[in-house]
Amino acid sequence: MNGHVDPTSITVYPDGPLLVRGSFELRSADGRVIDTDRNVIALCRCGRSRLKPLCDGSHKSARFVDSASADEVSHVLQFAQPTARGMSDGDETEGLSHGEA
Ligand code: FES
Repeated sequence: MNGHVDPTSITVYPDGPLLVRGSFELRSADGRVIDTDRNVIALCRCGRSRLKPLCDGSHKSARFVDSASADEVSHVLQFAQPTARGMSDGDETEGLSHGEA
């Protein structure tokens, strides 16, 4: 090991998963570390995977369609506040737990 840490990146695949590359730690909602033993994983965003939160390829048979463009996502991120459940334009503590708020 040379001490080099790859920067983390998340790539949105059209009509498919989110590919996470680099140094990251995957955790369950209750904070437990999910051992991935990898530096690249695909996270499901279609909701059809039998291995959530990981993609198992089910998005193909489900014919998942990504309807938001990169510009639309950027626009939402400018105005919405992140929460544990998703994005909100209201109370930024909505959906937070485990002492995060
Ligand atoms: S994105 Fe691949 S199974 Fe959901």
